[in-house]
Amino acid sequence: MSFLAIKNLYKSYGTVPVLRDINIEIEEGGFLVLVGPSGCGKSTLLNTIAGLEPITSGEILINGKSVAGLHPSQRDIAMVFQSYALYPNMTVAGNIGFGMEIRGVPKAEREKAIKSVAETLQIGHLLDRKPSQLSGGQRQRVAMGRALVRDPQVFLFDEPLSNLDAKLRVDMRTEIKRLHHRLKTTIVYVTHDQIEAMTLATKIAVLKDGVLQQFGTPAEIYNSPANMFVADFMGSPAMNLLTARIDDGPSGLSVSLDRPHGEPLALPVKSVNGASSKLAAYTGQQVIFGIRPEALTDPDGADRKAHSVAEGECLIEVVEPAGSDTFAVTNLGGKEVVARLRADANIEVGQKAKLAFNLDKAVFFDPKSQLRIG
Ligand SMILES: Nc1ncnc2c1ncn2[C@@H]1O[C@H](COP(=O)(O)OP(=O)(O)OP(=O)(O)O)[C@@H](O)[C@H]1O
Ligand SMILES: [Mg+2]
Repeated sequence: MSFLAIKNLYKSYGTVPVLRDINIEIEEGGFLVLVGPSGCGKSTLLNTIAGLEPITSGEILINGKSVAGLHPSQRDIAMVFQSYALYPNMTVAGNIGFGMEIRGVPKAEREKAIKSVAETLQIGHLLDRKPSQLSGGQRQRVAMGRALVRDPQVFLFDEPLSNLDAKLRVDMRTEIKRLHHRLKTTIVYVTHDQIEAMTLATKIAVLKDGVLQQFGTPAEIYNSPANMFVADFMGSPAMNLLTARIDDGPSGLSVSLDRPHGEPLALPVKSVNGASSKLAAYTGQQVIFGIRPEALTDPDGADRKAHSVAEGECLIEVVEPAGSDTFAVTNLGGKEVVARLRADANIEVGQKAKLAFNLDKAVFFDPKSQLRIG
């Protein structure tokens, strides 16, 4: 049974719809990440779960029970806000213990809980400081500590890492993952950072304009994006999405991509991600061919386990060494295409180089509906 279920949820501010028919279910101990561009409704959805915002229609169930009409304090959830919202006049210990103090938890018990949480978050030495005497990362830990002492049914996090610098973000991401592994409490986590979503989630919900675009595991979202928006949003550098044509020839279906020089590049589509039977209906028509940079490599760097790898000559326009890899830019289907090569790949600007297309990893989209074919 799902532990947190959101069913046919609609939310409007006045007459403006902000969330439209959201359906999401997550198991106990799951880590649900809500991801999407600014203004898509992530915080609003989190706030409806918390009970901070009323819903227009639909249902939210926690542990099988509807939370309709329940005040935030009755929902057994703990929330970490983006702004942290620490009490500036209280010490770290006071901030962490405040909720317990309000509930009348005896002092000794409170101190024990504060100490234990502070140790988990490695802020035990900061308990007597005020928030103004802390770094951004330390404040963030205090805000987390305040939620962690609660031991609630569900944690809600709204972009908790967005105020931190890049290095600290990565460190804290690892710590949150470790914490979740240890506590095994259900988490709903909002971010607009797709890498955070991929690394933390057991399930990801991708939102756009208040509409759920796809709900699935990180691997499902990454490998089988439901539409071009999801394909483009998840992954860095982004998936190459190229205009192409499906042709039927003596050796079966192929996908043709225009090149700036010479004949179009034709790739066989025998076993592309289960899409080939549906692709036949597009013979002679345009499709959008999606291939991630890491599925487009130098021939020696191609995935040896791939079933279907095709090679094609591409004119290299830009070469960008990035330490661990080298990115090369070419042009196919009238668009710039990024390929991810080995760091020591022998490649130069102006060269017509053979690139390997891992077609196991390719996806196709209908140019009109923008939905994945297959
Ligand atoms: N109290 C409100 N009254 C009216 N409209 C609101 C209110 N709060 C949010 N909105 C609108 O609802 C939409 C969704 O806002 P929300 O804060 O949920 O977005 P978000 O996905 O969290 O964005 P961000 O990544 O920028 O935090 C936006 O268009 C926003 O302007
Ligand atoms: Mg928000």
